[in-house]
Amino acid sequence: MKFFIDTANIEEIKEVYAIGVLAGVTTNPSLVAKEKGVTFEERLKEITSIVSGSVSAEVISLDAKGMIAEGRELAKIAPNITIKVPMTVEGLKAVSVFSKEGIKTNVTLIFSANQALLAARAGASYVSPFLGRLDDIGQNGLDLISDIAEMFSIHDIPTEIIAASIRHPQHVTEAALRGAHIATIPYKVLLQLFQHPLTEQGIEKFLADWNTRINS
Ligand code: E4P
Repeated sequence: MKFFIDTANIEEIKEVYAIGVLAGVTTNPSLVAKEKGVTFEERLKEITSIVSGSVSAEVISLDAKGMIAEGRELAKIAPNITIKVPMTVEGLKAVSVFSKEGIKTNVTLIFSANQALLAARAGASYVSPFLGRLDDIGQNGLDLISDIAEMFSIHDIPTEIIAASIRHPQHVTEAALRGAHIATIPYKVLLQLFQHPLTEQGIEKFLADWNTRINS
């Protein structure tokens, strides 16, 4: 499973890129709205100048015609722009057009296996099931990852599964075990993946022992 970061914040992207684990970026209108003093297009240019993997940029039109027009413009920004489209009838009409034009797509707001199958058959490059938001309403988001992974495997579907709406490190472990190709992770949760109290204690102990040796 590959790591994407779920943010439009350039400092967060730079920091995780420097660690060497970043395979892509996802943004959404809520994340972009947090970024002040920069246009969406300017921010996408900045992000794509750092990250060579997929960078998802979401359209805001609700009709296929508008989504197609927006997506074609966004796709001109850089070759690694992926057009993020909501899981609706109009969204999938747009996905089928983008697919024929060779423009990559990420179908977002997936909450059922049937939605994922429809998106894949329309030609989506990626589907994004939202784990945390399903958990929030008392359903099991991780079971959805297992169902989609099994369905895509049985039918030999090449669409990649992005585990989205990740809230904690256990979501990441389980998404990987259940067959997600990618997890798109908020910066805060990505940093939590590094932490283990025994690692920190181990470093302290090694340093304490080393200093004893130098001073003796
Ligand atoms: C994914 O592409 C979405 O941007 C994201 O994971 C949504 O997460 P949230 O449910 O925490 O807003």
